[in-house]
Amino acid sequence: MAQINENYLKLPGSYLFSEIARRVNEFKAQNPDADIIRLGIGDVTRPLAPVVVEAMKQAVEEMGKAETFRGYGPEQGYDFLIEKIIAHDYAPRGVQLGLDEVFVSDGAKSDTANFQEIFGVDNIMAVTDPVYPVYVDSNVMAGRTGDYDTEKGQYGRIVYLPCTEEGDMKPELPTAPVDMIYLCFPNNPTGMTLTKEELKVWVDYAQENKAIILFDSAYEAFIREEGVPRSIYEVEGAREVAVEFRSFSKTAGFTGTRCAYTVVPKDIMIYDSKGEGHSLNKLWLRRQTTKFNGVSYPVQAGAAAVYTEEGKKQIQATIDYYMENARIIREGLQEAGFKVFGGVNAPYIWMKTPGTMGSWEFFDKLMTEAHVVGTPGAGFGANGEGFFRLTAFGTRENTEKAIERIKARMK
Ligand code: MLT
Repeated sequence: MAQINENYLKLPGSYLFSEIARRVNEFKAQNPDADIIRLGIGDVTRPLAPVVVEAMKQAVEEMGKAETFRGYGPEQGYDFLIEKIIAHDYAPRGVQLGLDEVFVSDGAKSDTANFQEIFGVDNIMAVTDPVYPVYVDSNVMAGRTGDYDTEKGQYGRIVYLPCTEEGDMKPELPTAPVDMIYLCFPNNPTGMTLTKEELKVWVDYAQENKAIILFDSAYEAFIREEGVPRSIYEVEGAREVAVEFRSFSKTAGFTGTRCAYTVVPKDIMIYDSKGEGHSLNKLWLRRQTTKFNGVSYPVQAGAAAVYTEEGKKQIQATIDYYMENARIIREGLQEAGFKVFGGVNAPYIWMKTPGTMGSWEFFDKLMTEAHVVGTPGAGFGANGEGFFRLTAFGTRENTEKAIERIKARMK
């Protein structure tokens, strides 16, 4: 008799964004004429940059000719892309990386979900609350989290780091020791950032406790303010304790094309039961070479085009477009009397629901009365209750329309 990995039974019925899609489809089926505006899942709407399209076309042509055809690529990614990543995303900020410290992949979602495999199941993990659900759910599947307490809305063995209105949505250090720490800044879902000094506190903690930080910086391209670190490696000592996840999804419109990368510095050690240190970089390489065959050549060629002078301009124009949406949402909500966070250095706006309204209740009300879809804060954790997330990734027209509707119908 085939037996289930019982950890899967501890998961909520469906993944947050699948549940939202289900509710929207149900509403749409009952109200076929409703003009629904989706500002829920952080999926982009601007097309790929022209330089990216050209590079991909050319790469596909190469694949169609015997002389230039390529079969399996390096599992870690082609050097032509990794060299550009290091030269453009890290070197200008004073971060030196080796070619074998960058791993190109098909997404930060899969990398942040898969990375935990290298850690023992007895490790204690910490996450901010609210949190991007992938970090939690992937650890539930692995059996690291204990059981779900339905009353608290939390797993027994996870250390939750509350991000509250009073604390300006910034997490405080855990009071009990932890081994793995997931941090995401600019944050999904709150849209808030940490300063270099604030990030340094985490790096120091990780060094003192031999913990490892899993740092998701998928939204770094949206940072507008000077002085906000774009990479955790801008903080001294981070090379010894932090893995960094980045993505072309939101930066360059690759949500449907799939390309990302993860940095695993060679200085990071992870320990066996005898206390002997092992290179995390080597273990991740071992994992990737076994389970992954790399990102397709045309996609990597497209990603590399992002780093050309023309590519950088085109990408920046798209980012500016989304950040103008963020401004419209943030200011519009403020004018309508809502308290908001984020939206300054991130494409997410985190708003308080009115009065004591629960976040799923607000979701339903917004969908049925304003035909606008967002993401209920409770879907990101217990501390997300009473909050709601809107994304800046819609079209300008829809963003403006959504805010007008919220102002008119949601007071
Ligand atoms: C989100 O809406 O939080 C994002 O789409 C998540 C993701 O990138 O997987």
